[in-house]
Amino acid sequence: MAAARAMLEKAYAPFSHFQVGAAVLTQRGGIYGGCNVENSSYGLTNCAERSAIFAAVAAEGPSMKLRAVAVRALHNGEDQAASPCGACRQVIFEFGSQALVLFQGLEGPQQTSISDLLPGGFKL
Ligand code: THU
Repeated sequence: MAAARAMLEKAYAPFSHFQVGAAVLTQRGGIYGGCNVENSSYGLTNCAERSAIFAAVAAEGPSMKLRAVAVRALHNGEDQAASPCGACRQVIFEFGSQALVLFQGLEGPQQTSISDLLPGGFKL
């Protein structure tokens, strides 16, 4: 969670003012961070969770497996509840079908597995 918080200030969120920081812990023990990166063409925005996972793959290669993903968010500078969006849930599932996901829920901090957040995730 500390690594996710540290990423908040890197977020590029001039359109939503919703800054998101994420960090992943890999099976090998690596920790990699990511932030959301928005675009004038809104649909090109990349979420913090996927940025962190892609950084982990770039560092460890295609065998990278996730143990945990942590997420923190600020809206207009205030702490904000934020669980990973549906697209990010599928990307987390790809790299760790049992990964633990830590985030600020509506009723406080939550820790839950990706299989609870995304039942029946897609596998090719
Ligand atoms: N966002 C994330 O970074 N992660 C999520 O799981 C949900 C949404 C970002 C995308 C966009 O920059 C901003 O939050 C508002 O949707």
